[in-house]
Amino acid sequence: MPVTEADVVDALRPVQDPELRRSIVDLEMVRTIRVAGSHVDVQIALTVPGCPLKAEISGSVSAAVATLGGIDTVGVDFTVMTDEERETLRLGLHGDPAASAGTNPAHGHAEGRAIPFAEANSSTRVLLIASGKGGVGKSSVTTNLAVALSARGRDVALVDADVWGFSIPRMLGVSRPPTVIDDMLIPPEAHGVRCISMGFFADEDQPVIWRGPMLHKALEQFLTDVYWDEPDYLLVDLPPGTGDISISLAGFLPTAEMYVVTTPQPVAQRVAQRAAFMAEKVHLKVHGVIENMSWFTGDDGTTYELFGAGGGAELAELLEVPLIAQVPFVPSLREGADTGLPVAVDASTEIGAVFAEMARVVDVDLRPTKRRHRELRII
Ligand SMILES: Nc1ncnc2c1ncn2[C@@H]1O[C@H](COP(=O)(O)OP(=O)(O)OP(=O)(O)O)[C@@H](O)[C@H]1O
Ligand SMILES: [Mg+2]
Repeated sequence: MPVTEADVVDALRPVQDPELRRSIVDLEMVRTIRVAGSHVDVQIALTVPGCPLKAEISGSVSAAVATLGGIDTVGVDFTVMTDEERETLRLGLHGDPAASAGTNPAHGHAEGRAIPFAEANSSTRVLLIASGKGGVGKSSVTTNLAVALSARGRDVALVDADVWGFSIPRMLGVSRPPTVIDDMLIPPEAHGVRCISMGFFADEDQPVIWRGPMLHKALEQFLTDVYWDEPDYLLVDLPPGTGDISISLAGFLPTAEMYVVTTPQPVAQRVAQRAAFMAEKVHLKVHGVIENMSWFTGDDGTTYELFGAGGGAELAELLEVPLIAQVPFVPSLREGADTGLPVAVDASTEIGAVFAEMARVVDVDLRPTKRRHRELRII
């Protein structure tokens, strides 16, 4: 039986757009199909010109069509969607902001789209990673925990909420900015983690000089204008301290679980305690403490407690939450952060195993026991 156009469409159905994570057939990206004997030509409409994933799409289209019996060669060429087509695509994927506004009066936005993660029945676990002061390793922990959760097969998204001191794109090794489809941002991915950061919109050498309301708006856009597609986890790397951003986020993400990072010395632990008090004020619950830079092991095997000892355990006891991990000080962690290859990608190393275990504790031991349900309403 000769191959028909319908056969080609069926073969292309499992091929997904790598960024939109939907079938290219459903996304109406497959435009023309021409079968001539053992040769097939397929034309694909890219969402945006210069799509960075063009080569990848071309490869998967060719491979899918070549699985059809009797087909020897496949030609793939590209066109680009029109503005109207992009708008239709965005509305199909992301909904109409005007239609969804007001569905969640407490947390939605009057003019825009409601924040999906604010819904009580959202299937996404939101983890806010906080600390009382800067430089304790929050961003390093967030990045590596995200990578380790992804390695467990979870769908993981990461918001870099440190709008002044953004560091996630570099630490995660994301090299390209988000794709923009008709005002919808598609987050780039690295090591299985999709992320958004002010770093994509600001020059690394230029300070971000925004203040309260603009920051609030920017964070809201990180949550609403980005196509997140219901991840299992949304990790948020907070800026150090207990400022405006943390308060805005608490309002946006009322079901979030907060994790506090501290170093082992008593001073740091007292400062970290402030982050926990802030959590309480904004009605968020601290779910665990992570101690970082707990010890350093020299080449001769001697262990040094460079930053004191016991801070994590004391803070955990005070807050009546578990100390979920102690992360040693290892130079490879900093190197990995600087080169965009997080240590958690390799669970066979000692430090990789620490993050794999941290991810297991979060994913298994601290999994909420009750599914969250919308409040029952009797009408
Ligand atoms: N366990 C560790 N071992 C070695 N280096 C580490 C460790 N944790 C963090 N670092 C390094 O310490 C520095 C600060 O870490 P990081 O940027 O993650 O902290 P932060 O709390 O996010 O800081 P900020 O408050 O500036 O956002 C980085 O250079 C990082 O590579
Ligand atoms: Mg940081």
